[in-house]
Amino acid sequence: MPWQIGGREMRVWLVALTLVLAACGASASPDVTKVRDPASVEAGGALYQASCARCHGADADGGRVPGGPLAPSLVSKTGPSDQLLIEIVKRGRGLAMPSFATQLEEAEIASIIDFVRSLQVARLEE
Ligand code: HEC
Repeated sequence: MPWQIGGREMRVWLVALTLVLAACGASASPDVTKVRDPASVEAGGALYQASCARCHGADADGGRVPGGPLAPSLVSKTGPSDQLLIEIVKRGRGLAMPSFATQLEEAEIASIIDFVRSLQVARLEE
């Protein structure tokens, strides 16, 4: 009896599972595969190396804040939308991720996100 689940319980479990997967970011944002302007990707790559690589690594696959905690991979971060990623960069996150609101224009941050997305797409195609 404990292992027999009827139709209704099954649906409840599926809904719960979907919510858990969504919360974990298991579903990729549709923005991941959006077509990017190559000039923006290139500009974003240079900005990324100047502003982000020292913590997140030259290939954006994670690194360490100098003398501090780990900085997560940005390439594996396919869940959030472009807009959410831009907000994170503008505001900073936690204690170790600084805000870039005064250092980078929104368009520059958008180019950095274009660059990160190009790395994500390259990985999906691997
Ligand atoms: C001084 C080190 C440092 C620099 C420079 C830095 N980051 Fe971060 N970043 C971090 C750390 C540490 C975290 C994790 C913060 C936390 O969750 O507490 C993080 C988190 C993030 C997140 C959220 C990732 C997640 O898994 O939730 C994004 C997106 C991000 N950084 C993008 C960038 C971009 C783009 C740049 C360059 C404009 C940048 N970061 C520059 C240290 C840095």
